Amino acid sequence: MKAIGVSDAGEGAELIELPEPEPESGEALVRTLRVGVDGTDHEVIAGSHGGAPEGEDYLVLGHEAVGVVEDPNDTDLDAGDVVVPTVRRPPNGSNRYFEAGEPDMAPDGQYHERGIVGAHGFMAEYFTSPEWALVEVPPELAAYGFLVEPISITEKAVEHAEASRSAFEWAPESALVLGNGSLGLLTLAMFEERFDRTYCLGRRERPDPTIDIIESLGSTYVNSNETPVPEIPAVYEAPDLIYEATGYAKHAFESIEALAPNGVAALLGVPSDWSFDVDGGALHRELVLHNKALVGSVNSNRRQFAAAVDSLAALDDDFLESLVTGVYGLDEFEAAFDDDDTTIKTAVQFSAYEER
Ligand code: NAP
Ligand code: BGC
Ligand code: ZN
Repeated sequence: MKAIGVSDAGEGAELIELPEPEPESGEALVRTLRVGVDGTDHEVIAGSHGGAPEGEDYLVLGHEAVGVVEDPNDTDLDAGDVVVPTVRRPPNGSNRYFEAGEPDMAPDGQYHERGIVGAHGFMAEYFTSPEWALVEVPPELAAYGFLVEPISITEKAVEHAEASRSAFEWAPESALVLGNGSLGLLTLAMFEERFDRTYCLGRRERPDPTIDIIESLGSTYVNSNETPVPEIPAVYEAPDLIYEATGYAKHAFESIEALAPNGVAALLGVPSDWSFDVDGGALHRELVLHNKALVGSVNSNRRQFAAAVDSLAALDDDFLESLVTGVYGLDEFEAAFDDDDTTIKTAVQFSAYEER
């Protein structure tokens, strides 16, 4: 079967030929429909994040998949079920994080991430997965099912941010998303119903398709060249919640300053090492005297995938159509990895969905 992998950092994604996988007991064989591409895939291809399985010289890419059960094997799934796989797998048997249903909380060394680190991903015509790591999706969501994984990332981050504010009557009205990439825009769309006022920060000038999306969602675009994060409270307002999806390390610290009292910032970006000066005293004081919180969040669990299925169903079709700028077949898969200003969210299509 055909798969898309990476073997040399900096050399890009390549088409490879692999044997079709065979499901073990407790696993199903899934025919891949579509697999999305995000900023993490670009980091993996560049060699700045993740890595191949031990002893192997290539990694099959892809962690945002949707597929159809081809062979349920001895699982309770049925052939034809539309499913989305979760990303993390235990490296050597199980461990307490997986047993608790919270692999997203596992520390380094206690998880592999399919398509990212230590385990092959889903960019192949078929993949196998244990039943516990497959989440069912209604057939009508098959086309955009590859968005369930990134949406689940936000479900988790928001859950943790809200949990940090659960000891008092928190009544957030405004949210600021840092980053107009695919994760930022998806999150902004999810925030439309949850907050009275939303803002999204980017560094693009008009005209730009992401700014059009931000405004069509009824949100306000903040151009970071004109209004850097620390100036947002003076120009717009101090947001109750900040969702960082730029991977720009200064935003973690600038968020503390920009937040409203009692606010929380969820940090999602995965920056490389970068040393710079910060006024640690001012940030420490700000966190304490204004009851602010910073929450880091990575990955997501099965429950958050299930919540993401509902969130995906609630998203507007026009928004989804403008977000997904390209779905490419295997004969033109390279286009899915283009990273220019007209590309927002892409996916590779491995097979078409046909309702039974
Ligand atoms: P992406 O497509 O690369 O989006 C990042 C966006 O941030 C881009 O639109 C970029 O603008 C913008 N940006 C970067 N630096 C900026 C700055 N200094 N000022 C203003 N805007 C800036 O990536 P993504 O897929 O949306 O993911 C976003 C981040 O979250 C990445 O770091 C990714 O690794 C991380 N991530 C984390 C998790 C998790 O579980 N924690 C899950 C998924 C993704 P331009 O396009 O104009 O350059
Ligand atoms: C993936 C997560 C993963 C994270 C860190 C993200 O792009 O969506 O599942 O945990 O990268 O590798
Ligand atoms: Zn991702």
